[in-house]
Amino acid sequence: MNYIVEIENLTKDYEVGFWKKKKVRALDDLTLAVKPGQIFGFLGGNGAGKTTTIKILMTLLFPTSGTARILGSDISDVSMHRRIGYCPENPYFYDYLTATELMKYFGELLGLNSADRSRRASELLTKVGLDEKDWNKQLRKYSKGMLQRVGLAQALINEPEIVFFDEPMSGLDPIGRREIRELIIELRQKGTTVFMSTHILSDVEALCDEVAILRGGKLTATGRLDELLTRQGERQVYEVSLKNVSADQLPNGYSVRSIASGVIVEIDDESQIDNLLIEARKSGGHLISVQPVRQSLEELFVEPPTA
Ligand SMILES: Nc1ncnc2c1ncn2[C@@H]1O[C@H](COP(=O)(O)OP(=O)(O)OP(=O)(O)O)[C@@H](O)[C@H]1O
Ligand SMILES: [Mg+2]
Repeated sequence: MNYIVEIENLTKDYEVGFWKKKKVRALDDLTLAVKPGQIFGFLGGNGAGKTTTIKILMTLLFPTSGTARILGSDISDVSMHRRIGYCPENPYFYDYLTATELMKYFGELLGLNSADRSRRASELLTKVGLDEKDWNKQLRKYSKGMLQRVGLAQALINEPEIVFFDEPMSGLDPIGRREIRELIIELRQKGTTVFMSTHILSDVEALCDEVAILRGGKLTATGRLDELLTRQGERQVYEVSLKNVSADQLPNGYSVRSIASGVIVEIDDESQIDNLLIEARKSGGHLISVQPVRQSLEELFVEPPTA
């Protein structure tokens, strides 16, 4: 497997205080690999180290120790940077430029010819949902959400193989969030890898294939979201919902909870589900659903697995 992002033993200490004598460890020996073609969620609460990591990958900050590669090249390789895109947290641009000018400017920096620059600029500004009447307004007159949309558009001007979005939904209204969700899904469909930091858990559940969870600069969990949400090291528990049957019609020994339409039975052995259904049907019960009980993403966020 060739990874598109490889982070090895990355540590970052910020030097703070008047004489820069005190050190704040923002990242602590982070090792992480991202497979191409997916939406990768880089998660963690405020101050967990997400932005620090992304800035190191973009060479806007130097790590205290450790290395990283993107598309197989060391992050210091300038030619690789033409093949990637980046939207910073709270994007801030030369604010006397208009959105169109900014897009063309970045396009030119990245070597696009004049016709391609214009075409990509209008395509992308449309795609991020920026009203055409605002395209030729100076960015200093933009609202936060409008700036965020331009930030996302500029990250895509060079049709990058991988984009790094630091909090892509920040400042967006509900319609904007839906538009950007769709944009992110479309990117994956085209084969673009999306590496995004966020703490919006509903976006993570709707979008991300794999995630990494950071806490205090350390990696606490990484892997497929569906696997992480299955309680690790414990037996898989299933909830079997049945209707037209009550708790006292089922044999003893089941863990049964009554609900309005029937019961929910908790079972920790998949092979017992058939028996339960046979018993339930004897009393006229019907199966509604069998669901594996999952840890919620919120729980994982707060209390990541120690294993
Ligand atoms: N310029 C800086 N100087 C000193 N400390 C910093 C600096 N930037 C960040 N930090 C510290 O590094 C740690 C990680 O910050 P970082 O911005 O990477 O977190 P984050 O995960 O992006 O958080 P958020 O979700 O709030 O954006 C925090 O403890 C923060 O206080
Ligand atoms: Mg941040």
